[in-house]
Amino acid sequence: MSYIKVCQTSDVPEGASLRIEHPAEALAVHHLEGEFYVTQDRCTHDDWSLSEGYLQDGMIECTLHWAKFCVKTGQVKAPPACQALKVYPVRISGTNVEVDVEAGRLT
Ligand code: FES
Repeated sequence: MSYIKVCQTSDVPEGASLRIEHPAEALAVHHLEGEFYVTQDRCTHDDWSLSEGYLQDGMIECTLHWAKFCVKTGQVKAPPACQALKVYPVRISGTNVEVDVEAGRLT
């Protein structure tokens, strides 16, 4: 496990998502009901940033064609996407949001 700091908790307001540039892949940090979740930022339907989407009911909704994904598992919850998102282990250390980018996986 190799956690790296990606942002501060205060950088992501409740109910919002933040795009994080990383050499391996852009990430999206989601702040939902007091918890932080990290997924890949690129929608699996097309090349679109999910951190621009709407976060509610445990899902991120893509603003291009309205696919929905569970932010906890990455699973598709509404079409037109049919491929899950990669999800990443996340932990909070003080006020830092830390992600294990190498351990990102499909569920
Ligand atoms: S690009 Fe996200 S649903 Fe089409």
